[in-house]
Amino acid sequence: MYTEWSKGYYVGSAYTGGFYPEHTPVSMAWAALVSGTAPPPHEGAFTYLELGCGFGETALAVAAAHPKARVVAMDMNPDHVVAVRDKASALGLDNVEVYDESFAEFQHDLRADYVASHGVISWVTDQVRQDFTAMLDRTTNAGGLVYISYNAMPGRAAARVLQRLIVDRLQHETGTDLQRLEKAMSFAGRVAENSYFFKNHQTVARYLDQTKKRPVAYLAHEFINGAWDPLWFEDVARLLEGARLSWVGAADSVRSVGSLSTPRSLRPMLEAIPDRLHRQTVRDVLLDTGFRRDLFGRGRRSMPPGGQRRRVLQTRFCLAEPRDQCKLDVVVPAGEIRLHDEPYEAILDALAEGPRTGFSMVGPVDEDAEQIFIGMLVLVAVGYAKPCLTVVPDPEREQSIRDVNLRAASQIDDEAVRLVSPLTGHGRRLGRFDALILRGVMEGREDIPRFAAHALHEAGQQLILDDMPVVDPEELVPEFRKLETRFHERIRPLLELDGML
Ligand SMILES: C[S@@+](CC[C@H](N)C(=O)[O-])C[C@H]1O[C@@H](n2cnc3c(N)ncnc32)[C@H](O)[C@@H]1O
Repeated sequence: MYTEWSKGYYVGSAYTGGFYPEHTPVSMAWAALVSGTAPPPHEGAFTYLELGCGFGETALAVAAAHPKARVVAMDMNPDHVVAVRDKASALGLDNVEVYDESFAEFQHDLRADYVASHGVISWVTDQVRQDFTAMLDRTTNAGGLVYISYNAMPGRAAARVLQRLIVDRLQHETGTDLQRLEKAMSFAGRVAENSYFFKNHQTVARYLDQTKKRPVAYLAHEFINGAWDPLWFEDVARLLEGARLSWVGAADSVRSVGSLSTPRSLRPMLEAIPDRLHRQTVRDVLLDTGFRRDLFGRGRRSMPPGGQRRRVLQTRFCLAEPRDQCKLDVVVPAGEIRLHDEPYEAILDALAEGPRTGFSMVGPVDEDAEQIFIGMLVLVAVGYAKPCLTVVPDPEREQSIRDVNLRAASQIDDEAVRLVSPLTGHGRRLGRFDALILRGVMEGREDIPRFAAHALHEAGQQLILDDMPVVDPEELVPEFRKLETRFHERIRPLLELDGML
């Protein structure tokens, strides 16, 4: 399960893939701006680095969305690195470097403007966290931003008991690592049903319920590690101080807007705490935070007075959800709230016509600018709008992203493919049959269901229909006709929203 080189981290099987929008440059830049920090530029050439990238889906999407950027991904697990390299070459991405090294070993010559590490530092030992921080110190550019996410205290405090129960139980089960883990998980479930501890700590029972639905490959990396340490925010901030990094703010857009992230009744208590780091600790205790995404910066870029508002209004935005699904009643961490009709209906209607800057929606009156400024912070936070990759449309970049998407949709052996939005750089997952239909649409095929059925057959895919293996691809055509109808009704509108079609 562990080896000398893995330093207590589980390497018995590979992890699962995942795309995390919060650590794309556009989202990191937005989160910095919302917290009042000017982000480094990301429209031209810059360097992006991911530590502990796993299958690297986010790093690959960043490389596709920013063709002029240098994207560096690293992970000590060679199975992960091989997968990322193969995928980069299948997608035709020549701006990605992937290294199979540990944080302690990594000595390449680079200074990154955007650095990210998702789901790593609370699953490794103290020593590895020190190596991680030293690597950040060597590789972060002055003015650069660093995203990290981790299991947090106090919300995961009691979950340590669950992790301990699972890891101890593994020693008493038989089979492969994953079989033993499955048995240990169901044993933990039986214990939980009868346990006073789980009754007294409902959050752990809920955590177990949520996690046991995840694929076992994910659970292995979640639970079977030598170290499992939910971290206090202030300890993380102190650790990263060692790399001359200071806290910028929350990296998730909803948490960075105070009125949406904290119930009104708790705000006076927090506002009375002058130290912004300690305020976070108290907030975590008040809200029982169990997972955090934070943004740190090396050196602060000053913004002139009014700079934040101006930069927000200069940003180009697009809708993140179909217009008719953007209801003004929203559920946010602060509770259920209703957005005022003005200015939200007008902004949403304007964005429904196509991406536009905040300034283009500002009317003649001075207060309008403030309304649109606040309106955009809120609409991004509730997930109805997204900042775009570029302020003005960049047809060349959009075409290059569509080319990558076409290559992704042509990966016929993959269960699902990850497409990249030419507008936002965010990813969208598509099952392989839908991907085939998309490929038919992008290539302008006349009879897409027939094209899809034959493409699968020619790729040697063995398919089963009504419990019988399909020998003649024509048998699949009626199935693909149904899928094509569903694609146009449900999937195409989302892809159009993303600018993929
Ligand atoms: C839970 S996975 C997260 C992967 C990826 N960030 C994601 O969220 O999909 C943690 C990753 O950190 C890597 N890792 C753990 N310790 C490491 C070390 N000392 N040096 C480099 N990578 C490490 C593991 O191999 C694993 O891929």
